[in-house]
Formats: sequence, structure tokens, C-alpha cells
Amino acid sequence: MCGITGYIGYRKAYPIIIQGLQRLEYRGYDSAGIVLYDGKDINLSKTKGKVSDLQAKIKNDISVKGNIGFGHTRWATHGVPNHINSHPHLSQSKNLVIVHNGIIENYDTLKKELVSRGYHFHSDTDTEVLINLIEEIKTQEKCKLGKAVQLALNQVIGAYAILVFDKKKPDELIVAKLGSPIAMGIGKNNKEFFIASDATPFIEYTKDAIYLEDGEMAIVKLDREIRIYKINDDQLVKDPKIEQLELSLEQIEKGGFDHFMLKEIYEQPNAIIDTYRGRLLPDESIIKMSGIDDNIERFLNAKRIIIVACGTSWHAGLVAEYLFEDIARIPVEVEYGSEFRYRNPIITENDIVIAISQSGETADTLAAVKLAKSQGAFVYGVCNVVGSSIAREVHAGTYTHAGPEIGVASTKAFTTQITVLALLALKLGKKKGHISAPNFQVYLQELIQIPKKIKLLLEKDEHIKKIAAIYKEVPNFLYLGRGYNFPVALEGALKLKEISYIHAEGYPAAEMKHGPIALIDDNMPVVVIATRQGHYEKVVSNIQEIKSRHGKIIGIVSEGDSVVKGIADHIIEVPETLEAFTPLLTTIPLQLLSYHIAVMRDCNVDQPRNLAKAVTVE
Ligand code: G6P
Repeated sequence: MCGITGYIGYRKAYPIIIQGLQRLEYRGYDSAGIVLYDGKDINLSKTKGKVSDLQAKIKNDISVKGNIGFGHTRWATHGVPNHINSHPHLSQSKNLVIVHNGIIENYDTLKKELVSRGYHFHSDTDTEVLINLIEEIKTQEKCKLGKAVQLALNQVIGAYAILVFDKKKPDELIVAKLGSPIAMGIGKNNKEFFIASDATPFIEYTKDAIYLEDGEMAIVKLDREIRIYKINDDQLVKDPKIEQLELSLEQIEKGGFDHFMLKEIYEQPNAIIDTYRGRLLPDESIIKMSGIDDNIERFLNAKRIIIVACGTSWHAGLVAEYLFEDIARIPVEVEYGSEFRYRNPIITENDIVIAISQSGETADTLAAVKLAKSQGAFVYGVCNVVGSSIAREVHAGTYTHAGPEIGVASTKAFTTQITVLALLALKLGKKKGHISAPNFQVYLQELIQIPKKIKLLLEKDEHIKKIAAIYKEVPNFLYLGRGYNFPVALEGALKLKEISYIHAEGYPAAEMKHGPIALIDDNMPVVVIATRQGHYEKVVSNIQEIKSRHGKIIGIVSEGDSVVKGIADHIIEVPETLEAFTPLLTTIPLQLLSYHIAVMRDCNVDQPRNLAKAVTVE
């Protein structure tokens, strides 16, 4: 997965493309490149590294003139991240140029064929194969660029979002999509057009956007219009839907915080309010969710819920397993999208499949959704990005409304996903008669208190920072939790690994004695979630076991706790809440702990090495 962005219009393309690439760096940042057309020549520059490295290189490299161009920020799939494999890629004649997000699976066969026809390749990428295939077809068929792109894509197996330019036809850009997202912004009177992997590169220029659908190709013609065709049969797509973007510039800037991750951690109280606003109605004692209301029979008759997700979203799915089984009494299975899609799962029409995804673009989750749909299940989405591929693919769903999450390590997406899943479980629990009306009211009233309680927790930031300073150099960390807080232990460990590169493992507290206990010595910090609700005494016994082996204990405890306080090396108190909602609170100190450790280790918190925000390849 990578980020691509382009411009065609009357403004200078260079600053728009560079700024756009910076906003898309969450999608990959191991190399970057740009191409600009100055009215005569194609000027291309690329480099290993980040967009800032590209900017530095361009200064002595190429002219930045021109009103047409595009750029790419890469997360390597084919070929190591280096200058040569970076995009854009030129065709053999150097007339055509391309950027690509995705994978061409049959690139090897296509490459061999092109080599036999005299093509030479400079990079190891699948993308260079595609641009030469387009060139070969254009030459052989003597057709226009659009037609050549279409014919080439009909030979391609894989996923792509591409942008193609032909020096001989400098008033148009060709855009095409299958599996990887692409949005097109429309300037006033069609005087300029923007193209990007998501809408963030162009939100200050236009709010009118068209999201290309899978299997579509657009010809973006300056001063004219965007014409969209089906790739497989040349059919014109009439009246493509122009969507109104709701994003604001402020939402995607750091707003005084040092990092997006910290900003997003602090946004959680408001993000959760945005998630339940208009849905949680305590005065009427109801939870309104149109995706459920419109399909209530499917939910009430469901024999099982299968949750599919990846990464942090999978951890939210594990919390949901507890919520649904505990509150709504529906059996749940939680699956990694990548495993589910390849293991011939048994899916019936009585199953509900819930896909959880912040980006709505994760390839494995999307494939799991398609598989479940094809086998008759009702598929429900819990996504953050409006209009994303998963949101479009599912039968119904609920958006988390967390606002853009830019830090690669997920924070507010996790807590807002849990909020949606809690609303869902409560709504179904009530409908199925498993929660009494007064008890339902207790849950609603408590959920409304959660944002305030998170604010109180955020005030402990300095205390958490001091703990971070003590442990910033250790090589390993262990995280333990039980019940609802077992997934929180997994999430805490993942956060630390992702951004500080310290090895960390999450474990159910009671399982520690079946292995991880062997690791414990006086150099092993163990974060134990030991809130008063949920197996407290048993977790206290686990803490004793760690202590007697000289492990260092950081206890996440309920306010006023004195037992763990007496044993642990450090405690972080969280406000009391219902057991089902504890993950919404216990997660916060773990996010802050990993954030501070990563900053102290001088790690790139928002863009950790080797990771990307949206994994649109398998
Ligand atoms: C990547 C991100 C994670 C995220 C996971 C799933 O690995 O780095 O933060 O949890 O993808 O992404 P999704 O958008 O489907 O929630």
C-alpha cells in the first residue's frame, strides 16, 4: 500500500503534490517520488526515504515548474525500498509515466512477454511492467492512452489504484481502480482536478469529490470533465455520484501537539461523544442505530456473530466478544481477516459477520467481507473512514465518527470502535430481553460518563511519563489482563512494540504461569490490569507471583485501591466504571505509556519503521 496524489489545473502542481504526499505518508513512507510536466518535458525525481528527503533532493535535481504532475509515497511490496524501485516509473520510450498503489500478481508472466518483445526493465517492481504493457498495447493497437490503459488492465490480476500520464497528451490524466482506493476532487468550473488515495490532500481546495469504484477508469481532462468508464466493457458511467466532503483542515493538523498520536489520544473524550451522539438517547431509554433497526430480524435471529478484523481493530473485536456474549448472549467468534479468508470457514445465512476497520481499506478484512457475503451471511461494518471500501461493501453498518486518525498506531479508533460495539451489544441485549429496563438505563448513564472519566485519566499524563522514563531502556515488557481487559493487555503490548520497538507480549493473567513466568526477573516490567471489577482477587494473586520472582509491576488499578498499591512498584489509578466499559479507561494509560517511551527513545512515533496505517495489500 502506498499513497498517490496528482494535480492538473492552473496552479503550480509541485507544492500541492508535496503537501498531499505528506498527508498521505501514513500509507507508507519508505521512498517517495514526483513527476511534473513543465509544458515540454517530464521532470522526475525520486528517492529512498520520506517526503522530506524527496523535497531536499528535488532542490538540486529538477525544475519544479508545471501545472500537471503526480507523486507517490511508498510502502514496498515488490523490490526493496530504494531510489530505483521508487515511483513514478517511466515507460521504455519515456513518454508514459505511472504511479501505482497495489500489487500486480501476474507481473512475472507479463514481464517475460514484454522482455521477449524487447523491453528492458530497470526496477524490480510490478509497476514498471504495467507501464510498459500499456505502452506496448498503445503502440500495437495505435489507440489512445485511455484505451491502452483499459486493455492492459484487462490482462492484469491483482489490485491497483493508478495514475498515468502521456507526454504526448498533456491535458489529461488517466486514473483507474481495483481494490485500492482513489478519490478525485473537482475544482470550480472543472478548471482543476485533484486525485489522491484519500481526500486529505485536497480538502482546502474543494469539497466535491468522486470516489472511483472498483473496475472503473477515469479520464480527467483539463477544462473539461471527468469521464468514467468500466474497465472491462468500455461502458460510460453516467452521472457519477459527487460526494460532499465533511473533512476540515483542522482535523488533519496537529493542533499544537507534538505528534498526531498524542493529539489523537487526547481527542478520545470528544471522539467517543461523537460516536454516541444521536445514538445513545437516555431520556427515551433507547439506542438508535439505523443499521440495526433496519435489519433487526437478521440480528434477532442470528445464531452466531463472527467478527473479522486486523491489528488493533481485531483487539476491539475481542472486547466485543465479551460484550456480545455477556450482554446480548449471542455466541461470538473473532477472526483475523487474513486467516478467515483462507481457511474455508463454515458460514451460514444465520450468521452475522461484523467487519471492524478504522480505514475501511484493510485488504484482508475486505476479502473476508466479500467471502462472507458470497456465502450468504449478513455483513455489518464498523468503520471510521466514510465511504471506504469496506463501508461500501457491507450490507449495513455504523460509522465510528472518530475523525481522521493519522498516527499509524491506532488510539481513538480503538476506543470508538469499542463504543459502537458496546452500543450494539446493549441494543441487542435489550431487544432480546437479556437486560432489564433499569439495568439498561444504568449502562446508558455510565457510558455517558466515560468521556469525563477519560479526561480525568489524561490528567495523569505527567505521572505516566515518569514511569516511562524509568523503563525506557528495557528490552522486554509483559502485559497481563483478564476478561474484558485481556484484549487491552494485547493492545497495550502492540502499542509498545509498534512505536518503541521494545519487544512486548500481552497475555491473559492466569496463563502467565504456563510460560511467560519463566521470563520474569528484576529487569522485566509487567503491566497488570487489575481493576476492582473482574477477577480482582485472582489478578492480585498473579501480581504476587510476579513480585516473588522480582518482576517490576506497573498496576492499572481502580481509584482508591490499596491492595495492589502495597505490592506494585507503580500504580496508575483509573476511575471506577462498569466492568464492560473498563477497556475504555484502562487502555488510555497504556497508550500514554508507550507514547512517552517511544518519544524518549527518539522513535518516530507517528511513522514507525516498516508499518503503514492502511494495509491495502495482503
Ligand atoms: C495496520 C495499522 C494498525 C491497524 C491495522 C488494521 O496494521 O498500522 O494500526 O490496527 O492496520 O487497520 P484497520 O484500518 O482495518 O482498522
